[in-house]
Amino acid sequence: MSELRLGFPGNEKRVDAPDVKDSPAPWDLATDLAVVGKAHPRLDGALKVTGRAKYSYDIRFPGMIYAKMLRSPHASAIVRKLDISKAKALPGVVYSEGAAGARIRHAGQEVCGLAAESEEILDDALALVEVEYEVLDHAATLDMAMAEGAAKVLDDGPNVRGGRAPGNLEAVAKAHAEADVVVAQEYRTQVQTHSCLETHGCVCKWEGGKLTVWASTQATFAIQSSMAQALRIPAADILVITEHMGGGFGSKFGISSWDAFCARAARETKRPCRLMLDRREEHLVAGNRPDSIQRCKFSAKRDGTLCGAAVEAFGTAGNGGGAGVFNPGIYAFKAASQSASDVLTHAGGARAFRAPSHPQGVFALEGMMDELADAIGMDPLAFRKRNDRHPVRLAQYDVGAKEIGWERRVKSGSAKGPVKRGLGMASTRWGHNARPGDAVNCRIGRDGSVLFSNGSQDIGTGTRTVIAVIGAEELGLPVARVSVRLGHTSDPYGHGSGGSVTAPSIAPVVRHAAWLAKRELLANVAAADGGDAGKMDLRGGKVTGASRDLTFEQACAMMTKDAIEAQGQGRAEFFGLPRFSGEVAGVQFAEVEVDTEMGAVRVVKVVAVQDCGLVVDPLLARSQISGGVIQGISYALFEDRILDRATGNMVNPNLLDYKVLGAADMPEIVSIAFSVANGISPTGVSSLGEPPTVPTAGAIGNAVANAIGARVRSLPITPDKVLAALGVLS
Ligand code: MOS
Repeated sequence: MSELRLGFPGNEKRVDAPDVKDSPAPWDLATDLAVVGKAHPRLDGALKVTGRAKYSYDIRFPGMIYAKMLRSPHASAIVRKLDISKAKALPGVVYSEGAAGARIRHAGQEVCGLAAESEEILDDALALVEVEYEVLDHAATLDMAMAEGAAKVLDDGPNVRGGRAPGNLEAVAKAHAEADVVVAQEYRTQVQTHSCLETHGCVCKWEGGKLTVWASTQATFAIQSSMAQALRIPAADILVITEHMGGGFGSKFGISSWDAFCARAARETKRPCRLMLDRREEHLVAGNRPDSIQRCKFSAKRDGTLCGAAVEAFGTAGNGGGAGVFNPGIYAFKAASQSASDVLTHAGGARAFRAPSHPQGVFALEGMMDELADAIGMDPLAFRKRNDRHPVRLAQYDVGAKEIGWERRVKSGSAKGPVKRGLGMASTRWGHNARPGDAVNCRIGRDGSVLFSNGSQDIGTGTRTVIAVIGAEELGLPVARVSVRLGHTSDPYGHGSGGSVTAPSIAPVVRHAAWLAKRELLANVAAADGGDAGKMDLRGGKVTGASRDLTFEQACAMMTKDAIEAQGQGRAEFFGLPRFSGEVAGVQFAEVEVDTEMGAVRVVKVVAVQDCGLVVDPLLARSQISGGVIQGISYALFEDRILDRATGNMVNPNLLDYKVLGAADMPEIVSIAFSVANGISPTGVSSLGEPPTVPTAGAIGNAVANAIGARVRSLPITPDKVLAALGVLS
């Protein structure tokens, strides 16, 4: 056993941790780190800003062909007749697939696929395909699908499904009975599409029975295995390459049907083939965040004690499941219960989306918290502090309140003049999602070069830089001396970037690989030069504890072979260390300005205080936090997939009418990476990608209510809803 100092300055805990065999001592509050925790430019930053970074979208080959799917304009239909013959006869069309009979369950569902010499020929060819649809009744929205006599989306049962056991309802009723105030309200959130800057798709190229796929993905190895399954070939015959990718947010794990079509077109024509979705397809078929209706009944005592919470939730994940919400949670309710139902609709299916179920649930949860605080006449911040047990959030509340100037908050609706300001806040949580299974190679060359390699991808979070910083720390080198190769499945296995697992899972493995390589290097030094390798270390570009002054390069020159190669393995015992707290914590504060004549909301400032375990690099961490806040503001005020009830088609399938926050909408964002020695692993790095997007809409919703003295319980908070809440519009 050895003692670990966990926590953060002001709240430190000493705990006994089991020693992990054949592994360096865990980093904790006592560790003096030279590289970790300092700001380093992102390794791929220059490549990206100069346009030299090659995305899958940029991959082009001589003789390449282009593929695209023809998609149904109807939300519910049967393909009665499909005639591709005219399209196939068009010069330049080289491959096609498709047959009549398909049952269409959402607008945009694929009907057939074509490949051609150029994108222009492809468009002409798609227009020549003749399809006869038998158009059927549809239910495109939540309300339509829940209505009496609604068209059924799947044949094997009703549209409204699940409804997890409400459980605990008696305990909630008892808690409500003890309360002084009970608030019941309905909250709604919209469908949000991922709107990845780089659309979904891939480029496929065959050589002698082996396939290379340049995929825009957040999971190279899932692309490899799912493509192998679709093509019925061994995974070992597939190389997936993802050097850079333009956003996934949960929508880019395994292959989609169009990727397999692209691979088959390339195989059958013996030519490289490219299929990247256009923006309309991206909105229609590449996933979304489910919407929700949340009927909430919460209660509290006048002294600020939370009592009961019951939530009845409905949401649609389109023609699939998974529309649950995270509500209630976070706070110490005496009793809580939830029932959640998936409502099937004739719409594109949902996919995981940055903190699945959380932003929608927390918008309602935090709105209800403010409504309760109002009902008992208590400050919302004091109310939360009274009902929160998380040691990290309790410290973060004060940091955030000070930064936003919470003492400026006036009674809701008391601001003067037509343009009113308001302050609001909300909290977030996430799991410490570190998991075993990653492997990382560390190669130290006799020439002093250092390369870390892993086959997973950088979803955009800065994984290359995380690897370089951790590796440099263990090897006592500056970050600039370390190279990283990512995104080739020929390198060791790495997890898909989902659930914010990447940095916490790979960090201890990088460290271990570096530690193993270092041990061998120092053994070489001892063999060549005398001294005790066990007393040596690498620090500041030098060997410490050797019989004479030696630089890292001099040590490398003593190698008996060309290079030392060590592989770190993400062993389960790396992740069994004691933890300071069970969850990642964060709080956000928002200041908004509401024009009560026009209804427009402008976010003035957001303060985000976020725990992510050990902060590897504050620049990267703040960038992640700011990105989460930006996506959260966009969700709060703008983004909305609008389906035409009459046809089931999306009326805004572009980036003009589907509004995503732009530079002009950007507030001041103060992102504070709140470092916590959480235990977790020998590095203490935890999850960061998802939690900072969770509370933003809740904080903004509360700030709007504080500004105007009326509450908008539906996202996005658009001018018409603000004016309706004010009673100006009905
Ligand atoms: Mo995520 S939504 O687990 O990429």
